[in-house]
Amino acid sequence: MIEDGKILRNIAIKGDFRLIEFQSPEIAAKVLPGQFAHIKIHELRDRVLRRPFSIYDTGKNGRLSVVFKVVGEGTGILAGLKEGATCNIIGPLGKPFSLPESGKTPVIIAGGYGCAATYILAKKSPSGIILIGARNEGELILVKEFESLGFEVRISTDDGSAGKKGLVTDLLKALIKEKKDRLGYLSFYGCGPHGMLTAAGKIIASAGLDGELSMDHLMCCGIGACFACVQKIKDKSSPEGWRYARTCKEGPVFKVSDVVF
Ligand SMILES: Cc1cc2nc3c(=O)[nH]c(=O)nc-3n(C[C@H](O)[C@H](O)[C@H](O)COP(=O)(O)OP(=O)(O)OC[C@H]3O[C@@H](n4cnc5c(N)ncnc54)[C@H](O)[C@@H]3O)c2cc1C
Ligand code: FES
Repeated sequence: MIEDGKILRNIAIKGDFRLIEFQSPEIAAKVLPGQFAHIKIHELRDRVLRRPFSIYDTGKNGRLSVVFKVVGEGTGILAGLKEGATCNIIGPLGKPFSLPESGKTPVIIAGGYGCAATYILAKKSPSGIILIGARNEGELILVKEFESLGFEVRISTDDGSAGKKGLVTDLLKALIKEKKDRLGYLSFYGCGPHGMLTAAGKIIASAGLDGELSMDHLMCCGIGACFACVQKIKDKSSPEGWRYARTCKEGPVFKVSDVVF
């Protein structure tokens, strides 16, 4: 689906993170957890290259919002767009997270914008636990929003300025130990930097568990045509035992057991 999204709000939420809300009724009506929007920023010099953003939330009257971090030219320009301006949006794209099976509790591992990418999943699931990792307190976002959903929020920061000092994967190891008698009742999900996802995926697999990770890669077309966004996944039918999957079309969400880390 493709439509022009009128900007209703574009506000700073914390540090370099912002929330932008579009009126995008066609796309908003179809969004599933973990799907993304491919946004064309008209003011950008290389405007043919859209920028992919996970859909944070949808609301009344066709509202669709994204939480983004200003990291470069595209996000810098996006940050400066005013109410009433438009961006052309393709979406919702990608394979979504599956909701936890009945009786299972979600455990989300998130870093950076990973909290935004998993918010709809949390909203549609029974309340569970989210492990959030950040460099420091200034990079922690959406904690209150997850608490409002009844989620238990466990935090780690590299410098100890909030939560436990260390890595979010330390929180994951501790949780697996703590819940060792109930592991079969937990559904694991992850979104964040690749290093974090690789470490989390290995921990989940080595505990004999499975889960779903959003393996976000740089994207070009966003619709499966260019192979710019590939991830190695296991494939018994190929002589090498693996193949490249297009994360925009076959992902970004993959089972831990399918990913080659
Ligand atoms: C599925 C997915 C979901 C995401 N969700 C979020 C989110 O919710 N919030 C968030 O903050 N970030 C998210 N990101 C990351 C976000 O897309 C990047 O931060 C953003 O694209 C950076 O754009 P920029 O222009 O500001 O940065 P820059 O570093 O300036 O832009 C990236 C640069 O790479 C170039 N480039 C991009 N793709 C290609 C390519 N295929 N080949 C060659 N050059 C290329 C661009 O032209 C640009 O110059 C997500 C990424 C993916 C893949
Ligand atoms: S971005 Fe073109 S195939 Fe995924």
